[in-house]
Amino acid sequence: MFELDLAPADPILGLTEAFKSDTHPDKINLGVGVYQDNTGKTPILESVKLAEKQLLIMEGTKSYLPIPGLADLADQAQELLFGVGHKIILEGRAKTAQTPGGTGALRVAADFLKRVKSNATIWLSDPSWSNHVTIFEAAGFDVQHYRYYDKESQALDSSGFIQDLDRMKTGDVLVLHACCHNPSGIDLTETEWAAVAEAAKHKGLVCLVDFAYQGFGEGLEEDRTGFHVLLNAGLSILIAASFSKNFGLYNERIGTLTVIESNAQEARNTFSHIEAAIRAIYSSPPAHGGKIVASVLGDKTLRALWIKELDTMRERIKAMRLAFVNGMTDRQAAVDFNFINHQKGMFSFSGLNQEQVLKLRKDNHIYIVGSGRINVAGITPKNIDPLCDAIAKVL
Ligand code: LMR
Repeated sequence: MFELDLAPADPILGLTEAFKSDTHPDKINLGVGVYQDNTGKTPILESVKLAEKQLLIMEGTKSYLPIPGLADLADQAQELLFGVGHKIILEGRAKTAQTPGGTGALRVAADFLKRVKSNATIWLSDPSWSNHVTIFEAAGFDVQHYRYYDKESQALDSSGFIQDLDRMKTGDVLVLHACCHNPSGIDLTETEWAAVAEAAKHKGLVCLVDFAYQGFGEGLEEDRTGFHVLLNAGLSILIAASFSKNFGLYNERIGTLTVIESNAQEARNTFSHIEAAIRAIYSSPPAHGGKIVASVLGDKTLRALWIKELDTMRERIKAMRLAFVNGMTDRQAAVDFNFINHQKGMFSFSGLNQEQVLKLRKDNHIYIVGSGRINVAGITPKNIDPLCDAIAKVL
């Protein structure tokens, strides 16, 4: 009836499907941003399992949640974002909605922004998570990119970034990665955060912070310091957060969208429009993931266990980063990979080009996103040697 050609495969999730259908016993998946342990498994955290056991006993109804989801989850999420007893919380300036994953939070933000800033341009880093473009274009926005990653130096293009802030016009939306930039692993320094704060104030930009990796950079508190520069400057911002990675709750689809306004009344007003946007998309969120996160964060023992498990994930990724760089040095690779040690979080921009990426897939069954982004969490003690051998060969 519709006479359509096949839609193009998603650059990240399409790769997962290709990996799944590869029958080679030693295939390696460095594509989708999903944590794997030393044995290559994506485990369910023990803190999560314990919370689920309690939930199974305690849960008394499957009736709808309210539009913004669980109030307990909103409170706990705000403590993670701002810190216990932060004045933004005490003054009632933040309002939080539970969303289906960080992607859901971004889509709600996009639909809300379309209602209130319909002529704005959305500014994304170059490069950014591929789905950012898709989400904002789907909401009807014009999307542009600001300079971010410098290919030559394999570092932040700080002067390009600051110059591009100047190209933005009043009311435009600046999308920022709070930490563990996806896909480059390169984060803004305090200087750039301060430049954002100044531009946002001066030009009246709307800052939307994507916070999908809290705890994967340096730690729960350290990873929020960037956007706190914006908050300390008195800015109103939006934060889309995810519990997919730091709770390993990928398929429960649990995240939050938080708005911070200059006073409690404005926060309530703005939030009512976010609720209206939610009602038009999915009405109210699914409950299970939110209940797990709220239970873990609300229980001293489970929370301590979760923090320990999160620390283990972060440290394992860091160890694999180092092992990879050392592995390439040992092989006297044609490229110095030391820059990878300066990148943060799950991802690294390897510098591999599309041709090399395709060759690795064809010859070695190694799956890497076309941009050369590597999921460092997919490296294990078992696959590191064949991986380094193959990459050294393809350079
Ligand atoms: C990624 O970037 O690989 C993850 O955020 C998963 C996704 O949905 O793309």
